[in-house]
Amino acid sequence: MKNTDKPRILLVENIHPIAKEFLEQDGYQVDLISHAPTEDELIALIPNYTALGIRSKTEVTAKVLENCGGIVTIGCFCIGTNQVNLSAARQKGVAVFNAPHSNTRSVAELVIAEMIALSRQLGDRNSRAHQGEWVKSAEGSKEVRGKTLGIVGYGHIGSQVSILAESMGLHVLFYDAVKKLPLGNARSVHSLDELLAASDFITLHVPEIQETMNMIGKRELALMKPGSYLINASRGTVVVIEDLVAALKSKHIAGCAVDVFPVEPASNKEKFVSPLQNLANVILTPHIGGSTEEAQKAIGMEVAESFRRYLKIGSSSGAVNFPNVDLPVKKGTSRLLNVHRNEPGVLGEINTIISRAGANIEAQFLSTDDEIGYLVMDVHSKHANQLAQDIVGLKRSIRTRVVY
Ligand code: NAI
Repeated sequence: MKNTDKPRILLVENIHPIAKEFLEQDGYQVDLISHAPTEDELIALIPNYTALGIRSKTEVTAKVLENCGGIVTIGCFCIGTNQVNLSAARQKGVAVFNAPHSNTRSVAELVIAEMIALSRQLGDRNSRAHQGEWVKSAEGSKEVRGKTLGIVGYGHIGSQVSILAESMGLHVLFYDAVKKLPLGNARSVHSLDELLAASDFITLHVPEIQETMNMIGKRELALMKPGSYLINASRGTVVVIEDLVAALKSKHIAGCAVDVFPVEPASNKEKFVSPLQNLANVILTPHIGGSTEEAQKAIGMEVAESFRRYLKIGSSSGAVNFPNVDLPVKKGTSRLLNVHRNEPGVLGEINTIISRAGANIEAQFLSTDDEIGYLVMDVHSKHANQLAQDIVGLKRSIRTRVVY
């Protein structure tokens, strides 16, 4: 890896090339490693870098963070962030970003495909044709046009499914725990029960939280229309699988498409076992709702953009372990960023340093959580570096930098 005087970013685990391209255009030196580095490799590598980009296999442990040198941000070029010790990162003043919504369109498209596939029994017809059986029959096959789709969870994915479904002539109803603006002609209903009773297709797009655990079980399946379909591309714990199997066997539910399971194989090498296997009109997919080339590219761009905004202007909006601050850029000033332990009196100490220097604060924004405070200040350029040096000296200061 050649060393230049540009700020350096390390991207590991074959992150989509668009991220490197994007960051290089912005003046960074980007080095690539194709594998997931071990703890020791990371400790040896990262002190020379300003930012680290990983995917799901690189473990950023407390020990790595203890030795992270000049790293100010870590980007998870994926959805999950549990491979990073978020609390240790916060205590070291390292903001962690991810890309939770770059794959929403991919999930929405899969759901639309599955609605039609279920309605036409494509899974079964396809496998039987492969086995040499010719099942030419219209029985039980229906168009989706004019049917009612019920969406549970009208967030990033649910609302996109809504738009796509309407364009194919479905009536869309949705239920969300929070009041949401309906898009197009979609209509919100007051309860999950109402949605279940009124829909020909139910698709689930809620997060995995306490309230959504086992949200669809025996009672809810019984409320669904006879002959209706269930699609789950949210999280496996939302549906009680045994109850779904019973509803399918009794033919009350005419079919289902499931992409997520309560227990999923940890890798492609492990065997997948589910009570839903070998049932009629059941489409099973290996958690691929968001797995497309377009989503990988969008993830590359989303996290690279988070790096750019955090490194260049200190915007931490979207950080998963850090107070979110997004202060507009003020022309003719310099910006100083400080992360400190959130203890009484810290801000007073910082402001004393500023007033002693006779510096005028043009803008200041502080956001805190239980452990840290993140302070963004715009000051006259002539004062910025001296102020930063004095603030670094404070006992409770964790990280200070001048970004422009
Ligand atoms: P989001 O956060 O944008 O939307 C979730 C919606 O569910 C919100 O509007 C929220 O108010 C609503 N909600 C929460 N609790 C609820 C409850 N008890 N009842 C009704 N509504 C409730 O999330 P997004 O991005 O749309 O993702 C939805 C789900 O899809 C998540 O579980 C996510 O993990 C999953 N997902 C699955 C993928 C796959 O590969 N199959 C890929 C990406 C996301």
